[in-house]
Amino acid sequence: MISPDLYKNSQTYDFFIKLLGYQAGIDRYLRTMTLETAPRRVLDAGCGTGLLGLHFLQRFPQTRLLATDLEPNFLQATLANADSRKIDRKRIEVGIANISAPRKITSLDGQLSTLDEGTFDLICVGAVVGYADDTKQSLRELVSLLAPGGTLINIEMNESLTGRFVSHRYHYHNIPLAQMQQLLTEAGCEMKAMKLSLKHLPAKLTRTAIVARKK
Ligand SMILES: C[S@@+](CC[C@H](N)C(=O)[O-])C[C@H]1O[C@@H](n2cnc3c(N)ncnc32)[C@H](O)[C@@H]1O
Repeated sequence: MISPDLYKNSQTYDFFIKLLGYQAGIDRYLRTMTLETAPRRVLDAGCGTGLLGLHFLQRFPQTRLLATDLEPNFLQATLANADSRKIDRKRIEVGIANISAPRKITSLDGQLSTLDEGTFDLICVGAVVGYADDTKQSLRELVSLLAPGGTLINIEMNESLTGRFVSHRYHYHNIPLAQMQQLLTEAGCEMKAMKLSLKHLPAKLTRTAIVARKK
């Protein structure tokens, strides 16, 4: 069970991922990723401070983003980071969603909605699927939200000693790569895993990159 205090302070979280160069390392990795076409709609589920989704907004000027998280203060942090990156807020929607049921969204003013299947060309997640009550169901729902040919990028906690230590510290259920491969294949995707390199330190110490394409 995740501690309710763990993700209450988005400012401290944001400060440290920037100070330690974590955000920059992930950004450097994402820049190496080529996408066949610019995505029209991106979902960043469990967005934290928005580093994954905002990367794609900055890179592709026509792209729109839905950023979701269980904690509203992280949604506010994502919007503040969009401002710092000079990204027009009109290109971003935010909503509260549990990664256990990523299609069900509650807006910040309490409106409920359900996302349609096939809505997104690109879905990014990072260190969040391990918080789902049922990992398989969460991944299945995420893949259902992808349009055919769409891409899921998961900057997942890795199985190294440091990856497992940080997962333990954050009460995160570490997902073995082989299990992730099986779950994504069953959900109808082709998956590749890539180790981050020294250029992506310190993110390399705890994360691995999983890229899945929906057939
Ligand atoms: C380790 S941070 C990852 C942030 C970002 N995705 C990244 O890759 O750096 C985990 C985020 O997941 C959110 N979170 C925790 N449990 C969640 C849940 N059950 N559903 C959705 N988000 C959750 C936290 O509020 C936090 O913003």
